[in-house]
Amino acid sequence: MISISHIVKRYGQHTVLDGISLDIAQCEVVAIIGPSGSGKSTLLRCLNLLERPASGTIRIGDTVLDTASCTSSQVFALRRRSAMVFQNHNLFNNKTALGNVAEPMITVQKVPKAEAYARAEALLARVGLLSQAQQYPVTLSGGQQQRVSIARALAVNADVILFDEPTSALDPERVHEVLHVIQTLAREQNTTMVIVTHEMAFARQVADRVIFMEEGKIVEQGNAKQVIDAPRQPATQRFLRRLSPVID
Ligand SMILES: Nc1ncnc2c1ncn2[C@@H]1O[C@H](COP(=O)(O)OP(=O)(O)OP(=O)(O)O)[C@@H](O)[C@H]1O
Ligand SMILES: [Mg+2]
Repeated sequence: MISISHIVKRYGQHTVLDGISLDIAQCEVVAIIGPSGSGKSTLLRCLNLLERPASGTIRIGDTVLDTASCTSSQVFALRRRSAMVFQNHNLFNNKTALGNVAEPMITVQKVPKAEAYARAEALLARVGLLSQAQQYPVTLSGGQQQRVSIARALAVNADVILFDEPTSALDPERVHEVLHVIQTLAREQNTTMVIVTHEMAFARQVADRVIFMEEGKIVEQGNAKQVIDAPRQPATQRFLRRLSPVID
């Protein structure tokens, strides 16, 4: 489904992604873990071309792009194949929950308004928010806002949903409801997902594969339970040991 090859991203002299190559299968759920500054968010942002890598190729489905020489229409075509859920939801404050989910269908996909609203309602039901459909974001809790963002990401029928620490800005008691929604999607939906997370128990339980990044490189990857329970690389072991009180 997704194949990236030798992605390099630099900010000035600093190489943030140092030749990342990665294949992700259709319906696979991949968790990316690693220390702060290791390039996790940058990798997601390069995957949907919010950031332009210096070099490397990205393929999503049958859309292939050479990042060193692509045109803006190629960038636009590839960007539409993924949807992103950020740490801080980026909802329109002047639209209801329902409007937020319907909007990208109407503007991006040109779905007729009535159909977009009907589909938006079904998506809000899926994330457990049908009764909040007419509320504006300021009147929703952080966890509810984040679930609206997830419904909106589902709305555009992207090939892959990219999550960048979807729970790290939430109050602890709200984390569970958002993780639960993602877990349900992983089970029921044929959705390919790449999830940057610091929630190791969640990654272990939900992801098919865990990737550990450090300093712009993939240091270790494999079956989620194997990587988290029995990491092979010293860097992964150090990282997980530092987190272990949190896991307990
Ligand atoms: N726009 C930018 N300009 C300059 N440097 C940047 C920019 N964005 C990111 N960086 C640098 O790139 C490196 C990787 O950042 P990135 O946000 O990808 O890390 P991360 O793994 O997501 O970290 P965290 O877990 O803290 O979110 C960091 O050293 C960061 O300072
Ligand atoms: Mg980040």
